[in-house]
Amino acid sequence: MLIFLDKQPRLLYTLGVMRESNNHRGRGMKQGNMEFPKTLAEKYQPQAVGDFIGIERPRAVLTSFLKAPHSAAFLFLGPSGTGKTTMALVLARALPGEVQRIPSRECDLERVQSIAQRCQYFPWSARFHFVLIDEADQMTHAAQLAFLSLLDATAFPPMTVFVFTANATDLLESRFLSRCLTLNFGTVGIEQDLARFLAGISQKETGRKNGINFAAIAKAAEGNVRDALMKLELEILAGGVPEEKPKRISAPAVRQAIQTIYQERAAKAVATRNRRILEAAGVAA
Ligand SMILES: Nc1ncnc2c1ncn2[C@@H]1O[C@H](COP(=O)(O)OP(=O)(O)OP(=O)(O)O)[C@@H](O)[C@H]1O
Ligand SMILES: [Mg+2]
Repeated sequence: MLIFLDKQPRLLYTLGVMRESNNHRGRGMKQGNMEFPKTLAEKYQPQAVGDFIGIERPRAVLTSFLKAPHSAAFLFLGPSGTGKTTMALVLARALPGEVQRIPSRECDLERVQSIAQRCQYFPWSARFHFVLIDEADQMTHAAQLAFLSLLDATAFPPMTVFVFTANATDLLESRFLSRCLTLNFGTVGIEQDLARFLAGISQKETGRKNGINFAAIAKAAEGNVRDALMKLELEILAGGVPEEKPKRISAPAVRQAIQTIYQERAAKAVATRNRRILEAAGVAA
């Protein structure tokens, strides 16, 4: 059984609760008669640990872990768009785990206590309990303290894998951090891999690899794969029409414009003065 608190069908699909209308990439998802189109980030979402680009160390660690899984608490740490949540979902499917996904804003003391209670029972529909807490640094302080005892070796629930994700550790207690296996989702230096990844997607989507500057998109994304896929989607939709850039105005052109304004004002002032003189003299202008 999967417990999932977000109601968006796309996310339910991500967890494998809903069936895809077919297995082809590039097709929408069906729910009843409704078809949901997918973004490139959804369409080309990694399905297995080996599908992720960059993040070599998390891939190596999790590949080994999946060969002999056991109770553990992971912290997936890193910048936005580097695959932390997606990797957690891949892990949940691979275990397989009975998933409890807790949004950070709902992660308070009461919630941690209910997780603890639930994880004491044998997972009846899967091998493991899988608890995913996204943006863990936003959980309440009381929840974090409650996790200290839950993640302690003496109280760790059996057959349970916790995955916490966070962009930074500033708000996380050092005692909490020391109970987690921290994996850094750094994507520094993936520009070339990312550019190749984007070119491959462009080829599948349009049949072409030219007309788009993949290297520039990869560089501008600064390691954020989601951003890069969004930018690529825009470029494909634009079909080669370049983005309008603000035009640079040269200094002589600015001087010329100011001069023209002053000349026009001066001419107006002279005309007004002449009209007044003529009016004062009783001559119709
Ligand atoms: N390393 C990667 N390899 C391949 N695709 C990736 C990778 N990282 C991210 N993506 C793509 O970006 C999408 C978003 O990734 P995800 O939501 O897992 O990022 P995140 O690290 O959890 O970001 P955030 O910190 O903003 O929550 C994924 O669905 C996938 O398509
Ligand atoms: Mg995330």
